Amino acid sequence: MSDLALIAPVCPVPPQAELRAAFAERLIAWQRRHGRHDLPWQNTRDPYRIWLSEIMLQQTQVATVIPYYARFLARFPDVAALAAAKVDDVMALWAGLGYYTRARNLHRCAQVVVEQHGGAFPASPDALATLPGIGRSTAAAIASFAFGARATILDGNVKRVLARIFGVDGFPGDKRVETAMWALAETLMPGPDAGGAQVSAYTQGLMDLGATLCVRGKPDCAQCPFAAECVANLSGRQRELPVARPKKAIPVRRTWMLVLRDGPAVLLERRPPTGIWGGLWSLPEAAGEAELAARADELGAANSLARLAPFTHTFTHFKLEIEPRVAEYRACAPRGSSEARDEESAWVPLDELDAYGVPAPVRKLLDGLKGSLL
Ligand code: ADE
Repeated sequence: MSDLALIAPVCPVPPQAELRAAFAERLIAWQRRHGRHDLPWQNTRDPYRIWLSEIMLQQTQVATVIPYYARFLARFPDVAALAAAKVDDVMALWAGLGYYTRARNLHRCAQVVVEQHGGAFPASPDALATLPGIGRSTAAAIASFAFGARATILDGNVKRVLARIFGVDGFPGDKRVETAMWALAETLMPGPDAGGAQVSAYTQGLMDLGATLCVRGKPDCAQCPFAAECVANLSGRQRELPVARPKKAIPVRRTWMLVLRDGPAVLLERRPPTGIWGGLWSLPEAAGEAELAARADELGAANSLARLAPFTHTFTHFKLEIEPRVAEYRACAPRGSSEARDEESAWVPLDELDAYGVPAPVRKLLDGLKGSLL
């Protein structure tokens, strides 16, 4: 069975050929009138700025990205500046955006662009997709916005749009369904004669439709340029399409964290390079109360552990229940080499946390303690 055949049997308007043929032109016309035109990463063809925005936007909403994007560009105005930076400084600027592998890949990608491409991003989607952190969809977005390349994106929002309009059944994260959606997306692109401006309006149109009308919760079908043909709209299946990920109980893990305080400073430890919050600065941890008490003793705690309110942080694949405990540092305990940055641990004053990449929930915990510790 061909990839597209997966889609065809559930379409009540076979074969939708007319819609497919007219799709790009209608989307471009809609984008020009109703799409977004003033986002900070638009109105430039600088591949560095476009790449940075696409990486930040991979798992994060536009409104959250905007201030991070501005701070990042102010500090690292071009790919050479980013490549020359210390990874710790990149992580510190990224802290709070989540999915930290993106930040490490961002830094590695900048170094590859400088070392292997003479500081210029390659223009083809295939070459872009070989760089760290750039998958097929992100490569297409960068290539179409920066170089006018004819290549289709297919991120989560676009999958939702296509699943609804074309009635694609099956969970889009499923390999077979995803392959079929790539094949569909390829058939919808502007023709080979399309210029760069059309191509980038098309790519932006796919993003804008997903972000402004064809949203997850309550799509605004009345405003949609495809309402008359959209399978989900015609059959009232907006809530069922795209098909949700098959439900699996999400596992819960529990960890104990130590806030070891010495005046205004707390002890932070660098996490191992891989795994959750890899390479970020966090609190000393243990898998249980007794183990944390032993660690606290080793680290120089003067008193027994006091309980702070527990809280839960949800990751994509599991929940982490955090049991924080606080203790005072013993004044005479030897500190070893912990003050130094780039080592495995550091005493950090609470008002200097910005200089460290601290995971958002840990940062929130420490910010909440600020009044009582300073
Ligand atoms: N999401 C991913 N890329 C985007 C972009 N360039 N503009 C708006 N939202 C996006």
